[in-house]
Amino acid sequence: MIYLDSAATSLLKPREVAEAMERAMRTMASPGRGGHRPAMLAADTAFRCREELAQFFNAPAPENVVFTMNATHGLNIALSTLVERGDRVVISGYEHNAVTRPLHMLGAQTDVAHSPPFDRAAALEAFRERLPGARCCVCTHVSNVLGAVLPVYEIGGLCAEYGVPFVVDASQSAGVLEVDMGRLGAEFVAMPGHKGLLGPQGTGVLLCRGDAKPIMAGGTGSESRNQNMPQTLPDALEAGTHNIPGIAGLLAGTRWVRRRGLEAIERHERRLKDLMAERLAGVPELELFVSDESGEQSGVLSVRGLRMGSEELAAALGERGVAVRAGLHCAPLSHMSAGTIEGGTVRFSFSPFNTPGEVARAAELLKKLVRGR
Ligand code: ALA
Repeated sequence: MIYLDSAATSLLKPREVAEAMERAMRTMASPGRGGHRPAMLAADTAFRCREELAQFFNAPAPENVVFTMNATHGLNIALSTLVERGDRVVISGYEHNAVTRPLHMLGAQTDVAHSPPFDRAAALEAFRERLPGARCCVCTHVSNVLGAVLPVYEIGGLCAEYGVPFVVDASQSAGVLEVDMGRLGAEFVAMPGHKGLLGPQGTGVLLCRGDAKPIMAGGTGSESRNQNMPQTLPDALEAGTHNIPGIAGLLAGTRWVRRRGLEAIERHERRLKDLMAERLAGVPELELFVSDESGEQSGVLSVRGLRMGSEELAAALGERGVAVRAGLHCAPLSHMSAGTIEGGTVRFSFSPFNTPGEVARAAELLKKLVRGR
């Protein structure tokens, strides 16, 4: 199988990830739930993972790194902390349902900073117009549909200027592009463990600058007589037993990414995206969503079949051994911005473990399919 769906979940992982998880299952219990060796080993692993992530993402301290189930979980905590019914929240035109659905549930008034795909200047201008007086601002670093890189550092600067708390969805950038919480000036940065950080499904991280409101209450292994949740991070947001095998896998994945280096990973994935785009360029049955500027698009390529629907194309690719995701990718707003809300796109997304040969084979298969051969 040629797996080109890493924007959903990075299936191809370093060997160390599964090894660390297996070791954790055999030797570790639960942090803060006992002074015995298995509990202490678990506490040590959780702390080392927080430390690694705090350094990597320039969070204030390991305590500001909160473990979540996924990025959606973290975004729900961030938005429940900052937003109340009727508040105006400025978001980009490329947000995922992980942002728009919680805002809808909270009764927020979403104010979309619309901009054409890959137009960073227009995005920045749209945010500048809307930010004054907003309750909060949410922006994805990279669109999960198009791979378009949004100008989050500049938007963070505008948020600081207008005193608007900033939330960054780093779902598609963590482990691929630099995510620097300090430089973003973000109140919260949410990310999954199971994409670019190469950890397992069921892991996620929320970087919190300061106080946050729990969306779940329960045991934390601390302040047990207190019937309120502890106020201090990370306990305030981590009720219940931790996913220690997941955290051990996330630590191993993050270490691998840091050893390989962001620059090398980004270069590799962009090269694969460029190769796919080159191979598909000029095929009249396809529309490609590519940026002219290489820095504006990560290792994700969406295409639209002009004669075959995207679901049909993805199913046919799947039957021939190429795994991709088609449709709306849980991001209808992005598809509205791209003009692809009717039928969506077929998305190819690359990982550090994909090869140029795999990409060339997938491109040839797609060409044959759209030409009806
Ligand atoms: N948000 C993930 C995707 O883009 C699941 O496929």
